[in-house]
Amino acid sequence: MNLKTALAAGIAAMAAISCNTETDIITENIGNAKVQIGALMEASEAGDTVRIPSSFQDGEIVYVPTDDWVSGFFAGTLWYMYELTGDEMWAEHARKHTEILDSIQYLTWHHDVGFMIYDSYGNGLRLKNIPGYKDVCVTTAKSLSTRFRPGAGIIQSWNVDRGWQSERGWTCPVIIDNMMNLELLFKATEFSGDSTYAKIAISHADKTMENHFRPDYSCYHVVDYDPETGEVLHRCTAQGYADESAWARGQSWALYGYTVAYRFTGDEKYLKQAENVAGFIFNDPNMPEDLVPYWDFDAPDIPDAYRDVSSAAVNASALYELSYLTGKASYKEKADRIIESLSTPAYRAAQGTNGGFILMHSVGSIPHGSSIDVPLNYADYYFLEALIRKRNIENGMAPVPGDPEK
Ligand code: GLY
Repeated sequence: MNLKTALAAGIAAMAAISCNTETDIITENIGNAKVQIGALMEASEAGDTVRIPSSFQDGEIVYVPTDDWVSGFFAGTLWYMYELTGDEMWAEHARKHTEILDSIQYLTWHHDVGFMIYDSYGNGLRLKNIPGYKDVCVTTAKSLSTRFRPGAGIIQSWNVDRGWQSERGWTCPVIIDNMMNLELLFKATEFSGDSTYAKIAISHADKTMENHFRPDYSCYHVVDYDPETGEVLHRCTAQGYADESAWARGQSWALYGYTVAYRFTGDEKYLKQAENVAGFIFNDPNMPEDLVPYWDFDAPDIPDAYRDVSSAAVNASALYELSYLTGKASYKEKADRIIESLSTPAYRAAQGTNGGFILMHSVGSIPHGSSIDVPLNYADYYFLEALIRKRNIENGMAPVPGDPEK
């Protein structure tokens, strides 16, 4: 073997080692997820009905009704298990968990249907092209569009005639989380040929960019509008520490939402916004070394404040796509770092524990005293999504089907 051949062989061997290390964390996580999600699936299907697991608290799995905002994540998790393993068994169960959400396509009393239907039916459609699923997505987009307020150019998030939202003096509240509904709207335009849905999504993204962000690109949780004139009436929080603080998961929804808006429109301003939001998140002095954020960047008890693993998982998934769209390796390095952190016993539950959920230590809403430092189904959903995106990138593919060709 001459020197040149030996060097080439050495480089190939090193690449294989680094590739194996990268692949190993994915493979190892898939093996772990099979055990955990398998157990959770079995529990949720015990008895006569299919139930929707959302969390594990006080030794019990918490189940939610179909109209809860988190109702689509477990079906989506099962679709991701199918995508990660290729095992038809997961697709059969995913389908069962998806179709119990059938009535949600008509839900108009809150905005979260993008999460609920795109993560369940949307993934099922993408992976299996099941007849009827496209119609469910389009009908859901139509229902969501009833919440569009043309005078203000936004989709109203919450109604103010019931629950704790009725006690805040709001008129037409929009939360940053609403950026996560836009994927469904863009897809509905692709499926139906009706541009109305994409136009609503673009208007919402533009108004949110105008009104939700501070000069440092952190964002408010809630912006309350006059629905006729678009005047901003309040900027405040519901789930963060304070009106002027940066609630961690809200920043994650913004990062993910503007990355998706760029994927569908190719409009550079959305890409810039996603990068600016990433800049805030990862340069904030309160971001811990392991990149698993405190539940609020301004929580007064940092470094003793709770972490929010769900926020970390959303960030990882968004960063894989952002790395692909910008060609910047630094975003993938950060996403990889998050996956490594979440794969340690500090955040990933031992097999046979945690009610079957993969990850521990997420935060629902501290101000409401609900779901604090517990597993949450959306943390697992975005973690598995991040693993899929990581695997796609490392195999030279676009992380998300539909991402522009490179
Ligand atoms: N979309 C509600 C939340 O992030 O808690």
